[in-house]
Amino acid sequence: MASRPLNRSTSGPSRSSVLTLSEVSPPVLTISLLLILSLTACSPVGEAGSQQNGEQTSEQGHAIEPAAPVDIELATLMGQLQRHSAKLGYAINGHNRPLATFYLEEIDEVLEELMTVEEDDGMPIAHPAGVILAPVLETLENNLATEVPWPEITGQYQLMIEACNRCHLATEHGFIEILPATGEPPFNQRFDGADS
Ligand code: HEC
Repeated sequence: MASRPLNRSTSGPSRSSVLTLSEVSPPVLTISLLLILSLTACSPVGEAGSQQNGEQTSEQGHAIEPAAPVDIELATLMGQLQRHSAKLGYAINGHNRPLATFYLEEIDEVLEELMTVEEDDGMPIAHPAGVILAPVLETLENNLATEVPWPEITGQYQLMIEACNRCHLATEHGFIEILPATGEPPFNQRFDGADS
C-alpha cells in the first residue's frame, strides 16, 4: 500500500520515508552528501538563531508548520475503505474469489492502519475499529478461503458494510452511510470470475 502521513499515536517504522542506499543512484548520493556537508559547514554554530524563544525554526528561519492533523489521514483511509469495499462487493457479485480475496486483504491493510490511530477529534478509532470491523472481516476471510457458497459470502459482505456504518454511528458520523455494491460497477475493470 502507498505511504501515508505520519502523526500516529502509536508508530511503527515508517515504510515510506527511509531510502536505503541501494535505492539511491551514486550521483544523487554524491550530491546529497555534498549538500549535507555544505549545510553543516555554513550553519552558524553557536548563534542564538534557531534556539531563540524555544521556537522551532527551519533552515530558512521560517517556523516549522505543525504536522497535518490526523483528521486528514483518517479521511484518506476511509476513502480507501470505500473504494476497496465497493470493489470487494462487485467481485463477490461476480463470484470472483481471487479478486474478492485481494480486496479483502486491501481492506485488512487499511484496518491495520486504523488500529494505529488511537483517536481522532477526541473520538476513539482503533478500539471501535477492532471491536466492530475486525471480527466481521475475519469471518469473511474464512468464508472466502473455505469455499463457502456465494449467498453466504454475500450475506457476510453485507454484515461488513453494516459494520462500517455501525462504526460511523459509534464515532458520531452516522450521516456517512455506506451501501453494498449493486448494479453495474462504475469502474473500468472486470469483476466477473471464472465460476460466475
Ligand atoms: C473506527 C470506526 C470506523 C470504521 C470501522 C469505519 N469508519 Fe468510515 N469513518 C469513520 C470516521 C470517524 C469518519 C470521519 C472521518 C473524518 O472526520 O475525516 C469516517 C468517514 C468515512 C467516509 C467519508 C470520507 C470519504 O472519503 O468520503 C467514508 C466514505 C467511510 N468512512 C467509509 C467507510 C467504509 C466503507 C468502512 C468499512 C469498510 C468504514 N468507513 C469503516 C469511522 C469509521
